[in-house]
Amino acid sequence: MDDRELIDLDLACLWHPMLQHRGLAATPPRRIERASGSFLYDANGGRWLDGVSGLWCVNVGHGREELADVAREQMARLAYVPMTLSHEPAIRLASKLVEMLGYPGRVYFSNSGSEANEAAFKIARQYQAQIGKAGRFKIVARNRGYHGATMGALSATGQAERRFGYEPLVPGFVFTEAPDPYREVGDCEDALEKTILREGPDTVAAFIMEPIIAGGGVLVPPDDYLPGVREICDRYGVLLILDEVVTGFGRTGRMFGHQHWGVTPDLMTLAKGIASGYMPLAATVAKSKVFDAFQGATGDLRHFRHINTYGGHPVATAVALRNIEIIEREGLVARAAEMGRALMAKLQHLARHPNVGDIRGKGLLIGIELVADGESRQPLAPALLGAVVASCARHGVIIGRTTNATPDRSNVLILAPPLTLGNEEADLLVSAIEAALFEELSTDDSPRTTG
Ligand SMILES: Cc1ncc(COP(=O)(O)O)c(C=O)c1O
Repeated sequence: MDDRELIDLDLACLWHPMLQHRGLAATPPRRIERASGSFLYDANGGRWLDGVSGLWCVNVGHGREELADVAREQMARLAYVPMTLSHEPAIRLASKLVEMLGYPGRVYFSNSGSEANEAAFKIARQYQAQIGKAGRFKIVARNRGYHGATMGALSATGQAERRFGYEPLVPGFVFTEAPDPYREVGDCEDALEKTILREGPDTVAAFIMEPIIAGGGVLVPPDDYLPGVREICDRYGVLLILDEVVTGFGRTGRMFGHQHWGVTPDLMTLAKGIASGYMPLAATVAKSKVFDAFQGATGDLRHFRHINTYGGHPVATAVALRNIEIIEREGLVARAAEMGRALMAKLQHLARHPNVGDIRGKGLLIGIELVADGESRQPLAPALLGAVVASCARHGVIIGRTTNATPDRSNVLILAPPLTLGNEEADLLVSAIEAALFEELSTDDSPRTTG
């Protein structure tokens, strides 16, 4: 089938996520044919640096033959059994994750970040009921956070444009503020405590948060925030769920995001970098005290009554194990920290552009907040960010941005390249962004704004 036929079929049959299809024929989604390292290639000689690792998931970079070999071997030996039985890759991966976390825990496997969070919510509610706190069903989440597309995970997502049109969502989710050091939204630990008190601590099962809000705008909290949150959760008997779907597996320069702040969660969710996107896989990790509340007699309904057909898939877990081996063998966590610092230093060059308000991040998770001007900090219009992203692509670099998040805060460009990013690739990333900013945004005294 030639290129034109494939595009026509795409436009006739595929329903793409997050895209308006009317008018798509003018700029159909790029059809990527192969990928290697940090680069994506189309069938016509086009090449793009993948500055967001797909959807921030291809941590070890594209095109690893080693992972393909592992998948092939595992598929030939044992392609599938459900996790009501057992198999070696799932056993070894669970034990590896527990070893990496450094505290006793249990691993429940599923297929996506959304599912991992759904499992966490159900575990939290059932845990509270089984320790005698049946009235604790509410989940506190944060404005601007993202936890997934399924109804429960969406109910925990504090991004109005993701929720609009799908409401009413699942009852029992309430929201509090997330720190935004650039905009200083106030004392967010205090806000969390007040939220719990306002709802009534005896009604709250858990608090969920991303260690660093990713898609909502790369919001890095102040260093005392997570320790403060841990203390508040303990004070009120609220489980702390950390969504490490993006921040896990080296992305922020530590193996897991929470390790920057020396606290451990009661429940943690993992996906994306766990298998670097080579296979779909996710995990919900519970501390032993949570798991222990599910012990009981056969038939008394104290066990976790939840199953995902493909959760813990032999091929996905085998690939994840090797993926983690690669992350460790190649020192990619330290490399993400080091390249993150180098990339951040190179990006400082962009700070002279009048529409660049803030450049922030940790490791290779970086946000560039675009504003009307440094003084008003008025967010730049989403259409202008779209133009910058499109211009970057014309310069051979794919970057991300806040998309359909919070209407008044969709103004952050997002970088999350593979952790294998080289120095020259970092230079290419920065020069494309610089060119795009100066081409698409006026640099005179009256920069274009939301109006
Ligand atoms: C922090 C976070 N949690 C959960 C999810 C949902 O993961 P998935 O798309 O695999 O369901 C995402 C997806 O981007 C995410 O960024």
